[in-house]
Amino acid sequence: MAVDVLLGLQWGDEGKGKIVDVLSPDYDLIARFQGGPNAGHTLEFDGKKFVLNTIPSGIFFNNTINLIGNGVVIDPITLKREIDKLKDAGHDLLAKKNLLIAKKAHLILPTHQLLDAASEKKMGDGKIGSTLKGIGPTYMDKTGRNGLRIGDILQPDFKEKYEKLKGKHTSMLQALYGEVADFSEREAAFFEAIELIKKFELVDSEHYVNNAIKQGKKVLAEGAQGTMLDIDFGSYPFVTSSNTTTAGACTGLGIAPQQIGDVIGIFKAYCTRVGGGPFPTELDNEVGEELRKVGHEFGATTGRPRRTGWIDLPALKYAIMLNGVTQLVMTKADVLSGFDKIYACTHYIHEGETIDYMPYDICSVIPKPVYKEIDGWNEDLTGIRELNEIPQRLSDYMAFLEKELEVPVKYLSVGPDRVQTLVLH
Ligand code: GDP
Ligand code: IMO
Ligand code: MG
Repeated sequence: MAVDVLLGLQWGDEGKGKIVDVLSPDYDLIARFQGGPNAGHTLEFDGKKFVLNTIPSGIFFNNTINLIGNGVVIDPITLKREIDKLKDAGHDLLAKKNLLIAKKAHLILPTHQLLDAASEKKMGDGKIGSTLKGIGPTYMDKTGRNGLRIGDILQPDFKEKYEKLKGKHTSMLQALYGEVADFSEREAAFFEAIELIKKFELVDSEHYVNNAIKQGKKVLAEGAQGTMLDIDFGSYPFVTSSNTTTAGACTGLGIAPQQIGDVIGIFKAYCTRVGGGPFPTELDNEVGEELRKVGHEFGATTGRPRRTGWIDLPALKYAIMLNGVTQLVMTKADVLSGFDKIYACTHYIHEGETIDYMPYDICSVIPKPVYKEIDGWNEDLTGIRELNEIPQRLSDYMAFLEKELEVPVKYLSVGPDRVQTLVLH
């Protein structure tokens, strides 16, 4: 099987960017399959830090091709900013020819962002807490069969199509929200960015990926967001607008299910969530504050403080089931150093019953977590490079998780840098 999938098992920000970067040398092609610039994937190496929003996290390896797949929604302005930043840092993607873009990927228009912002504002306290990047409205136009795609930018009638969709959006904004904010600057930036995108190789990515598979190339599909933000299975309606699960890799790249090999599921040693919606193990107290401080839990894209809590095993088991996870990666174990006791939610109490699964409605009645208390470890993990340096209590924590989750933890991350990664099995 040629295509491995790497995705988040919680509410996003599990460390996908870091781990994709670590694994990239083993792959010929890294392909993002869904989401858009709502994602912020952080990579650190050689004292440098990069945050990627749209570009796959294999971009720093010369022998790895990176593809933005058809399931992704692209904001040309953000993509240009990413490309420019990488160029400034000595990575000229046009020269390296290591970035391909799917013609079937949809475009985020400036007015999609206005619609996102207006909709959130109108919802007040009940808002989703979206990243305001226009993700929801763009996927709505995709499924509503109104959207514009990357391939359209090459057509002579692109401007006409753009004006038509823009007109629809401005009438909606006027009718629903009574105002249309000025977006002339963003519109100019949009068309400038489109010109840059035209210089890249725009491909029929389903053919590109399947040809790569035929040639025996190894492909890693990179997910964005996390399973609990999946449009079908997440904490609806507090979710994103795409399938963040393994199935999303099939539709987001045009590959058949039998091509999927390993499914690498990432989770933090604890749990975070950014934006609104239920979070059963949330610690709205000093312990949560400590996790946020030590773990630098602030959004890579929006800078918002992330909500923090203990690990949630019913949610993780659900994610493992939905994705067919074959290997686990645990990140940010170093953040738990020094906590005398740590806690793992093994069950919920929901409507008077003790259950070990994610119930249908976690929004109107948030399930109450039942915790197992676990002895913490004090050792600083960030310098650990050998397996025999792992503290016993951390090994015990991982053994407990493996038993509960019935999947091996193959990688352990003990810091944000590439080198702070241990292969356990
Ligand atoms: P992604 O969206 O899943 O790629 O994750 P983000 O980049 O949004 O958030 C993960 C954050 O944790 C980033 O700041 C990473 O640099 C950082 N990080 C990743 N792995 C580790 C780890 O093992 N320990 C620590 N302390 N930080 C980590
Ligand atoms: P990465 O790939 C964490 C959250 C938003 C909001 C909800 C809907 O970095 O893990 P959207 O803008 O998608 O309509 O917002 O989803 N969200 C993320 N949370 N990590 C992400 O991506 C996210 N992308 C979206 O905060 O709650
Ligand atoms: Mg992120």
